[in-house]
Amino acid sequence: MKIGIFDSGYGGLTILEKIRARLPQYDYVYFGDNARTPYGSRSFEVVYQYTLECVKHLFDEGCQLVILACNTASAKALRTIQQNDLPNIAPNRRVLGVIRPTVEAIGEITKTRCVGLVATEGTIQSNSYPLEVAKLFSDVEVIGQACPMWVPLIESNEHHTLGADYFVHKYIDALFAKNSNIDTLILGCTHYPLLLEQIEKAVPAGVNILTQGDIVAASLEDYLGRHPEIASLCSRGGTIRFLTTESVDKFASSASIFLNQPIIAEHVTL
Ligand code: DGL
Repeated sequence: MKIGIFDSGYGGLTILEKIRARLPQYDYVYFGDNARTPYGSRSFEVVYQYTLECVKHLFDEGCQLVILACNTASAKALRTIQQNDLPNIAPNRRVLGVIRPTVEAIGEITKTRCVGLVATEGTIQSNSYPLEVAKLFSDVEVIGQACPMWVPLIESNEHHTLGADYFVHKYIDALFAKNSNIDTLILGCTHYPLLLEQIEKAVPAGVNILTQGDIVAASLEDYLGRHPEIASLCSRGGTIRFLTTESVDKFASSASIFLNQPIIAEHVTL
């Protein structure tokens, strides 16, 4: 059995990279629903339907465990899949998200107890981050800012352009105008590490920027340690396959830039 990593597009590659660096022994399947990306502006119902289809496909590919390496899917689909679908379709398999581990990490980092969140419209509207933060750290305030232009810029490989700089400043300035006490910024979308250099230049000095790759990788390692019954079912051949709903050539050329290595992708029709 393998470990599945799912995202609406290329963003989950930033998580995959860190997971493989920390846990290279396992076999992985990465699945990008590139033909239907972005998810960030879609309704709850649509994100849930798309995510469920992709999770089922990863189960069909032999995944024991699926990580939703996508905040939008974690915000809008994870709980329903865990509570309503898994018991019927695959009671012995697991689906995990990226929001909870990210929230767990902020408690020790913020000193001002004021945290900024940049994410897709869907993640911001779902209120998932403030709700999770309130459960763990009731004294921490979350100030959110939707950044609807960032994923399209990254998916179209336009993230190193002056146009991208403009949109980075636009949303970062809007966020800090809401509250200048923010000392920690969560990049709450797995695509956003691709804009890290520009974001670092745009935020006020001294602000901590939290990317999710290392956090999710550490959390997965911890999860597998606490669940030997799941870990023992995961095969250890160190392999990776890449699946996409888009053209394989398009996926392979963009994903190779993200990962800095040549890759071969397989097409999936859902
Ligand atoms: N990478 C996804 C996330 O973490 C979203 C991208 C999209 O809008 O599809 O939210």
